[in-house]
Amino acid sequence: MSRIRLGVNVDHVATIRQARRGREPDPVTAAHEAELGGADQITIHLREDRRHIQDRDLRLLRETAQTPLNLELGAADEIVAIALEARPDQVTLVPEKREEITTEGGLDVVSQLEHVRAVAERFHAAGIGVSLFIDPDLPQLEATRAAGVDHIELHTGAYAEARGAARAHELARLEAAARGARELGLELALGHGLDYHNVQAVCAIEGVEELNIGHSIVSRAIYTGIRVAVAEMKRLIREVERAQ
Ligand code: PXP
Repeated sequence: MSRIRLGVNVDHVATIRQARRGREPDPVTAAHEAELGGADQITIHLREDRRHIQDRDLRLLRETAQTPLNLELGAADEIVAIALEARPDQVTLVPEKREEITTEGGLDVVSQLEHVRAVAERFHAAGIGVSLFIDPDLPQLEATRAAGVDHIELHTGAYAEARGAARAHELARLEAAARGARELGLELALGHGLDYHNVQAVCAIEGVEELNIGHSIVSRAIYTGIRVAVAEMKRLIREVERAQ
């Protein structure tokens, strides 16, 4: 069985820095510390409004990250051009609205299939891997395939927010989507809202290859430091893998 890779999202380190528009804390240093704690990938989101990650962070991480760099982005022309020049290992296309606090829903690939296909083709032609951040719904999975993309990240926000019976329902939705991804031959990542309490149930879903986690790790890092916070998340993931 292949091991689940942990992508650590350091956007929120940049959020704290941007509160003062200063130099610290530096998300680049945080990424290096996350790697020392066992991160398998660094994930950042360069938003159009630059509310956290800055172009300089992308540039430096491209040069200094030891692990693959996964750049989340909306499909705005300016950001696509920057990404093509920076050449991260992978881009994850996400929907982006200026007024949202964080990425609220998955990309609607069904309604913008041709646009997504065109953007994905540009990245593929540049040798950059493409993933689509989508809700766990079969039509979105099928549209992903139709767009020529072979990697998805399922939005786990609804699962993370649900309580009681609703949580079991959302977990079942993720399991069904993971089955669909396997049948379509899509590489499978999960992300959004995952934390130290809810991560193990999704690690048990068959076929999960990658998790992208930010807020909970950066929150814990305030008390423990980021190395320890990442190592503890990895321990929880490995515990599930060993039990399978
Ligand atoms: N994956 C994607 C595509 C995201 O947009 C985000 C949030 O930036 C994450 C993962 C990480 O979510 P969280 O910070 O809730 O762990």
